[in-house]
Amino acid sequence: MSEAEVDARILALFRAGDGFVSGESLSRLLGVSRTAVWKHIKGLRAAGYEIAAVPAKGYRLVAAPSTLNKFEIAEGLETARIGRPLLCLKETESTNTVAFKMAEEGASEGTVVIAEGQTAGKGRLGRVWLSPPGVNLYCSVILRPPITPVAACQLTFLSAVAVARTIEKCTELTPQIKWPNDVLIAGKKVAGLLNEMNAETEKVNFVVLGIGVNVNVRVSQLGGTLRHPATSLLEEGGVEVDRLKFAKTLLAELDYLYGRFLAEGDAPIRAEWLERAPVRGHKVSVSTGDRFFTGIARGIDSYGGLLVELPGGRVETVMSGDVALVDE
Ligand code: BTN
Repeated sequence: MSEAEVDARILALFRAGDGFVSGESLSRLLGVSRTAVWKHIKGLRAAGYEIAAVPAKGYRLVAAPSTLNKFEIAEGLETARIGRPLLCLKETESTNTVAFKMAEEGASEGTVVIAEGQTAGKGRLGRVWLSPPGVNLYCSVILRPPITPVAACQLTFLSAVAVARTIEKCTELTPQIKWPNDVLIAGKKVAGLLNEMNAETEKVNFVVLGIGVNVNVRVSQLGGTLRHPATSLLEEGGVEVDRLKFAKTLLAELDYLYGRFLAEGDAPIRAEWLERAPVRGHKVSVSTGDRFFTGIARGIDSYGGLLVELPGGRVETVMSGDVALVDE
């Protein structure tokens, strides 16, 4: 049994009973020494668990932390790859920066980094991702897919679909996806995705999927300098969302979709993406930094490019930039 599994089993044993569990029975049931049990209790306390210890009675779980911590996320997580292993930080600069460094140092596929807050959250195109602590989800996933660099943007679609499916499962809300990487509710941005890659010409070494979801933040907490109207699940649904359940569901959805991606390629994910993307058939404006044009969005190609039909009938493939729906 791994150290994480011992922690998870201790918590499960606490929760299964309604009173004290002796150190001796923990040691017997887990097949580890009394000293090891004590070390795990110490580790759980350090992670915020309140655990009472009474001589001759044993230990009792008094309260679990309300934070996103690895013990709670790992409990009952039935993923094949994603979240194995899992690193949960109280605060960091950016989970993408941490995960990227870990991947460079050889961290395995499926490694997930989650933080309660970020001091320098990164958005797309060098923008800042505001990351107040304790209210949202900031998560980065390391993948090592056997694909070429041009195909890596398909993973952005994969994470957008995973976020949308998670919102559908954890709330009553209906998310929509905006090319290439925003998840919206009622036209306002609720989640952003930032994928970073390390690759050679023909081969991806690793991709870090960065996912930021505004879960229980109040829009007023995000300040007034946002480029696009932002929202949160709390603002739209009117109820707080259980962040722990949300994080676990997201990891499970990513695991399911990545398994399908490896087995069947990007077609099923692209189809799900298109179902949730209102862009197809709509007039859009495209700003790529040096160019601005309008046209009708026709779909996405297998490299993730947005196909935009220009007024003369020519179809342009947009690989990056800002796209907005144009009201007619
Ligand atoms: C965007 O829409 O501009 C992308 C935002 C991505 C934010 C997430 S939060 C977790 C991960 N760590 C980061 O620094 N950024 C991504």
